[in-house]
Amino acid sequence: MTELERLQASCLFEVARCGDLKKLDILKNAILGKNGKIAEYVKELKNLNSEAKRKFGSEINSFKSKITEELNSKKQELKTKELEGKLLSEFVDVSLPPRPDHPGRIHPLTKVEEEISNILSSYGFSFADGPDIENEYFNFTAMNMPDHHPARAMHDTFYIQQLADNNGRKLLRTHTSPVQIRTMLSNKPPLRFFSIGRVYRSDYDATHTPMFSQIEGIIVEKNIGFSHLKWILSDFLRRFFEAKNLKIRFRSSFFPFTEPSAEVDINYEIQDGKIVFGIGEKWLEVCGCGVIHPNVLNYGDVDVTKYQGIAFGFGLERLTSLKYGIPDLRGYFEPDERWISTFGFPFSTK
Ligand code: PHE
Repeated sequence: MTELERLQASCLFEVARCGDLKKLDILKNAILGKNGKIAEYVKELKNLNSEAKRKFGSEINSFKSKITEELNSKKQELKTKELEGKLLSEFVDVSLPPRPDHPGRIHPLTKVEEEISNILSSYGFSFADGPDIENEYFNFTAMNMPDHHPARAMHDTFYIQQLADNNGRKLLRTHTSPVQIRTMLSNKPPLRFFSIGRVYRSDYDATHTPMFSQIEGIIVEKNIGFSHLKWILSDFLRRFFEAKNLKIRFRSSFFPFTEPSAEVDINYEIQDGKIVFGIGEKWLEVCGCGVIHPNVLNYGDVDVTKYQGIAFGFGLERLTSLKYGIPDLRGYFEPDERWISTFGFPFSTK
């Protein structure tokens, strides 16, 4: 073994056993630096004849590249270790179980979301999702509301002016309907899906909050029409409100994305200060629905000569408030412990 080979072996050994980034830096300097071990060898080159110079020089070069390679991979290894250690030391266990003396409550929206998902899945609906930050194209244009359509103004939209591209301005979606188009574009019919999600409109009082939630159900199939819509909504509402005799009234209405369109009312009466569904002659509106407009199906790339669609939409907080007697919409979004203790559900009923 030459002296250079011995030096190389000892340097590689030092690098291999180094366990810390600072020490590695010092080691690197001691080997490759200006006054390092290799530099000493280079100084000797001038005393050699040209052939020996060439041979010795190439040995030094391969030593240099070998050691540089090892130093770099060691550096990478130590950096990864350091990051892992940091992540481990900063780890917060958010899955800690609730304290037994304070078990927490299930939010009414979570409870109702689950109830609704269960009923809709029993009709064969699956879940579809879309982004909260939408653009004008999916939120309006593809929902049969072209530029300057008066219905756009009805939605009190939060626009994000700075972010605009080919699909128009970005905005906070004003309804869950853009999920219809996104799902039609990424799947082939027949389709049967629902979405539940947050929507945003610039409005604030006891019955309006700038953020609220909608549920939307969609079917795109062959030979589907208004009669199917009537059956599904009647069955859904009777099951959801746990009222077998619930009366359902379809009132003719207008939405740009459905034709014909209807709003759905259910009957109720106040008994001992409480609302009871399925009796009495008073009516409450709970839902918007209709047969999907062919323009919307076209935007979703659906062959309108073969398929039709039906759609319905609910306000989730409204359904929840009606079923569980929650008075003010604002409480849903305020972090008030008293509210969740009053209206939340114990974990065991889940
Ligand atoms: N997107 C409508 C709204 O926000 C609700 C709706 C959905 C109506 C589906 C009909 C069909 O007002």
